Amino acid sequence: MQAETIMVVGAGLMGRGIAEVAACSGCRVIWGDVKAELVQQGLDEIRQSFARRVEKKKISKEEHDRLMGLLHANVIVAENLHAAARADMVIEAITENLSHKRELHATLGKICRPEAILVSNTSTLSITALGASSGRPGKFIGMHFFSPVPVMKVVEVIRGLLTSDETCQAALALTAKMGKEAVLAPDIPGFIVNRTILAWYGEAIDMVASGVRPEDIDRGWRLATNAAMGPLETADFSGLHVVLHAMDSVYEATGDAKFKAHPLLRNMVQAGMLGRKSGRGFYDYAKKK
Ligand SMILES: NC(=O)c1ccc[n+]([C@@H]2O[C@H](COP(=O)([O-])OP(=O)(O)OC[C@H]3O[C@@H](n4cnc5c(N)ncnc54)[C@H](O)[C@@H]3O)[C@@H](O)[C@H]2O)c1
Repeated sequence: MQAETIMVVGAGLMGRGIAEVAACSGCRVIWGDVKAELVQQGLDEIRQSFARRVEKKKISKEEHDRLMGLLHANVIVAENLHAAARADMVIEAITENLSHKRELHATLGKICRPEAILVSNTSTLSITALGASSGRPGKFIGMHFFSPVPVMKVVEVIRGLLTSDETCQAALALTAKMGKEAVLAPDIPGFIVNRTILAWYGEAIDMVASGVRPEDIDRGWRLATNAAMGPLETADFSGLHVVLHAMDSVYEATGDAKFKAHPLLRNMVQAGMLGRKSGRGFYDYAKKK
């Protein structure tokens, strides 16, 4: 099955990126969030990011106009979840909370056409468990995009225990259509990439708590590996609340101490220091401007 109409649920960092890339690769996108104004805000942010790409000379004015045309032609704002009845595929990118995701997929499973496929962009949660909640485990799969979605090439494709071959083929076809490369990952907490990254965040945060400067950790990492960002810059970019949810989720599922969130991370989130999104995390983005 070739997915032509995709509903994206969630208009945060990831939903925004997925909606943009889907629309710009020619899919029709129905985009929703619990708060409809967040979708409008997301559309504004996508338009601003196109403009920034022209300013930074990453794309030409012609390419900018082409992308704006695709966004305008392909995206419609969903008034509510019932819009999912029109979708070939629904990609869920809501907050990382098992009970909220289970509840949403149970509702989507009832609204969607029987042949429609449900996808979760969860970073850590069990695809098998979410598939069971949807009532259509054969038509349920994980597609774990990375942030920023328009830039990052990889998508982890995660089959649940009962995901059908046909569903997997549809997810791989959509990944290719979006210009991304798929890596098949096992349905274990954190899959492949986050399983590794969360332990990396944990070590870096532990060092900050014992007095090492974030600048030194990130600079050392960048210079030693040629990576664009170090662990704390990456954590700030993803959102410290997202990192905390992911660590809690993998720790709860595995009981492995290396995924136990440091109290410093928990306190930062409680203080509203969410990283770039809030203007302050391991770095102060007001000062950086
Ligand atoms: N931030 C990252 O780097 C990253 C990377 C890969 C995957 N993910 C995963 O993607 C998902 C979303 O992450 P994010 O960073 O975009 O989070 P976010 O906090 O930026 O956005 C979440 C959005 O979901 C909406 N939402 C919450 N409950 C909803 C519901 N029941 N129905 C509709 N909308 C609802 C919220 O209003 C919000 O706009 C999570 O599962 C996360 O683990 C995040």
